[in-house]
Amino acid sequence: MSEEVRRRLQELRAEVRRHEYLYYVLDRPEISDAQFDALYRELVRLEQEHPELITPDSPTQRVGGEPSPEFKKVRHLSPMLSLQNAFTEEEVRAWEKRVRAVVGEDVTYCCELKIDGLAMSLTYRQSDGRARLVRAATRGDGLVGEDVTPNLRTVRSVPLSVEAAPGLPEVFEVRGEVYMPIAAFERVNRELEEQGHQPFMNPRNAAAGSVRQLDPRITASRNLQTYMYTLDPSGLARSQWEVLEALARMGFRVNPNRIRASSIDEVVSFHRHWHDHRQELDHEIDGVVVKVDRHDQQQELGFVSRSPRWAIAFKYPAEQAETVVEDIVCYVGRTGVLTPVAQLRPVLVGGVTVRNASLHNEQMVNEKGVYPGATVTVQRAGDVIPEVVSVRDPRPGWRMPERCPVCGGPVVREEPYVAHRCVNPLCPAQRQERLRHFAACLEIDGLGPATVQQLLDRDLVREPADLFRLGVEDLKGLERYAEKSAQNLYEHIQAARQPPLARFLLALGIPEVGEATAEQLATEFRTLDAFRRASEEQLLAVEGIGPTMAREIRTFLDGPGAQVIEHLLEAGVVPQEAGPTPEGPLKGKTFCFTGTLARMSRGEAEELVRRLGGRATGSVSARTDYVVAGANPGSKLDRAQRLKVTVLDEAAFWDLVGEGRPR
Ligand code: IVH
Repeated sequence: MSEEVRRRLQELRAEVRRHEYLYYVLDRPEISDAQFDALYRELVRLEQEHPELITPDSPTQRVGGEPSPEFKKVRHLSPMLSLQNAFTEEEVRAWEKRVRAVVGEDVTYCCELKIDGLAMSLTYRQSDGRARLVRAATRGDGLVGEDVTPNLRTVRSVPLSVEAAPGLPEVFEVRGEVYMPIAAFERVNRELEEQGHQPFMNPRNAAAGSVRQLDPRITASRNLQTYMYTLDPSGLARSQWEVLEALARMGFRVNPNRIRASSIDEVVSFHRHWHDHRQELDHEIDGVVVKVDRHDQQQELGFVSRSPRWAIAFKYPAEQAETVVEDIVCYVGRTGVLTPVAQLRPVLVGGVTVRNASLHNEQMVNEKGVYPGATVTVQRAGDVIPEVVSVRDPRPGWRMPERCPVCGGPVVREEPYVAHRCVNPLCPAQRQERLRHFAACLEIDGLGPATVQQLLDRDLVREPADLFRLGVEDLKGLERYAEKSAQNLYEHIQAARQPPLARFLLALGIPEVGEATAEQLATEFRTLDAFRRASEEQLLAVEGIGPTMAREIRTFLDGPGAQVIEHLLEAGVVPQEAGPTPEGPLKGKTFCFTGTLARMSRGEAEELVRRLGGRATGSVSARTDYVVAGANPGSKLDRAQRLKVTVLDEAAFWDLVGEGRPR
């Protein structure tokens, strides 16, 4: 029996490993996510029944143990070197001339992308036919790094063990880069900001911050990726190209964007190609690494101080430039949050003129020491909003205005949030953003931001209710509106008089209330009237609504919301009563979605759940039955795991709702 279990466990581990490899390393899955989950679950179940048979390199053992209080310092087997830099074609040509002077004319170059991440060293130890990951360390000063093994174990493209490699000693090292894909960077920052934390400056910092987490579960949630490029010692490989091939064969993730160039002209055109195409990559690069391919030639060339003579980093000009902050102005959003923005003396950064850089909040301004008149270095990374990276003579002490720059109303900071808010509900800036939001939520065709602006400028509209009092004549007066288009817009507005209750609640712009919560409220209370009368306790009893949200809703209904709603009703807007929960296979089940679904939008999936009798909420609680995790899931996934809520991937969700698999 035990032999049978042992064999099945081995089989399952091999299968799970193979599919993880296909998915995370090769990006070429062969089975559905649901099939993968089934395998994984069987493995977990068998291991739970036979804990004595769990091995540390089992795919189930990526996150284990408790956060450590600190990182141990570890000495690298051999120093982790750095590279000499070249910024121009001339410098690269000069380098290659020196190379040829030493090794002769017969040279080929292995060209790789220089990933803007964090150098890592992974140590493997071989025994019983397998090489197991025993240590992962940061580069540190090149000689001594930090032991971050539990964190790197959570990175799915890092193999916990590989087949033993003939030609390699018992202990060997694999080195490369760990990085944060741009999509993950944007998600992580969005979440940090939502939670009132400081966002990361760029993907590199985000990767570094995620690797140096004391809690590996946080690292696990950050979707880090790897590209490996060094094998030490290099075993049977005779060239860098063969090293890359060997690493790929062993199961490491190796960047496919590489060439073996037989002339420096090819090197230069590879460099140029990726300069022009770097936007298409899912990660940032800061240049190309050119390595003399043959190991015997590398050896002949040797080292200068801490860098090899046989390699050079052919960098891209930094997408950074120096300029002066002319002013710091604050923008006011729909909920009154003030965002400081540096107005810059216009400057070209990587071919784009930059005029503004977001400073996020007061704390950030002062941590950087930005002030009007400061000379700053600004940076543009991919499509990310330009940012101030450093200040020449930093001076903290900038203060948010005490009065709103738009309405002059009081500005307050509500602890623990880092944001400052204008608390005047009549503030024109907020009014404008609220109207835009209202029009967008009710999906009034033709009522885009520009039209809303014109209506406000002409004082035709001050609050949502006014939209419904507009006549064709009023609209004809707007720029770019003729008889016909004015008539059309008028009709679209009229058509929006009977919105479903959930849409209506969303359009009100109640703080904290997003799409799923609005649906939830509509389902629970059915009518606007019942919702308006709901006590904080009743609100709290609704799935997905916590104390903060309940308080915000009640405050809104007693305060600014009361009049807005009253006026809308007076103007003849009639929110439609929400129907009873339909009977269906999902009756009584609560779902929460996180990440991006491949097959339909999150809103559509939530709608589907409701049609089948289930409930969709915006946040995870112990009462949530399922969390459905799409691509790049957010912190809701961590929370689900913490609360032991069942997590479904997209395929499992479609299976559950009986829609078969997407694709
Ligand atoms: S080779 C001795 N290859 O660049 C050779 N480095 O300035 C060591 N890097 O610390 C490095 N992509 O973090 C090499 N394809 C690549 C690279 C790469 C990024 C980083 C690495 C290293 C730094 C050197």
